[in-house]
Amino acid sequence: MVELESSQVPSHVAIIMDGNGRWAQKRRLPRFMGHRQGVTALKNAVRFCKNRGIGTLTVYAFSTENWARPAEEVSYLMTLMHETFFKEIDELEREGVRVVLVGDRTSLSPAILELWDRAEARTAHNNALILNVAFNYGGRNEIVAAARQLAAKAARGEIDPEAIDDAIFSKHLYTSHSPDPDLLIRTGGELRLSNFLLWQSAYTEIYVTNTLWPDFDEQEFDAALQSFARRERRFGRVPKKGTEN
Ligand code: IPE
Ligand code: IPE
Ligand code: MG
Repeated sequence: MVELESSQVPSHVAIIMDGNGRWAQKRRLPRFMGHRQGVTALKNAVRFCKNRGIGTLTVYAFSTENWARPAEEVSYLMTLMHETFFKEIDELEREGVRVVLVGDRTSLSPAILELWDRAEARTAHNNALILNVAFNYGGRNEIVAAARQLAAKAARGEIDPEAIDDAIFSKHLYTSHSPDPDLLIRTGGELRLSNFLLWQSAYTEIYVTNTLWPDFDEQEFDAALQSFARRERRFGRVPKKGTEN
């Protein structure tokens, strides 16, 4: 474990947990085995973030586009998600983790919604780590939903359209309770966002590793944090004195 100064530790890490299918295929196993192994990697990542003082972890678990996968895989992912949070909720609650579903609730099954309502209510008071689970999440869907809410408020005369700014818009996103991510990790090597946190990632540092999600361990996470600690975040400004190349 490499010690980082607390100012170098990201407050919010987001992860695109990609590569489960390839992990399984490499072992001549069915894809679902990769998803199952991915849950273990997720549990390790949650523990890691808590131990390192990272305040928020947002994980991409199922995208609005993932419905286009074969029906058996979609159904497996729905069941896996349900079972995982059903099994883990006691421990998450004990460990001080607050869980929040970030995604479109309108097309999820009543059973999944009931589980999430309960999990969110039970852990609402926790503050050791906020775990945002992006499930049935799509960045465009989220932005459209926020725009729709704001338009409805304007039509009812509850908000002046001229008053809508970045901060108010952010408050209408699924992630309204979280700061923007400082670091976005993508496993599996693809150089794209795949519709994840489009608004929130405006100035997020991106780290892509070829490691497949089920193989993403503490050492890999450490490497991502070290890379982050070396970045100079300029937010459009000129480099700080002495750091120009
Ligand atoms: C990511 O792994 C998990 C989900 C999208 C649910 P994939 O299933 O996309 O794995 P690859 O990219 O096919 O290897
Ligand atoms: C992104 O992975 C979604 C999740 C990790 C849940 P995908 O495997 O769906 O992304 P693409 O299709 O390669 O862009
Ligand atoms: Mg993938």
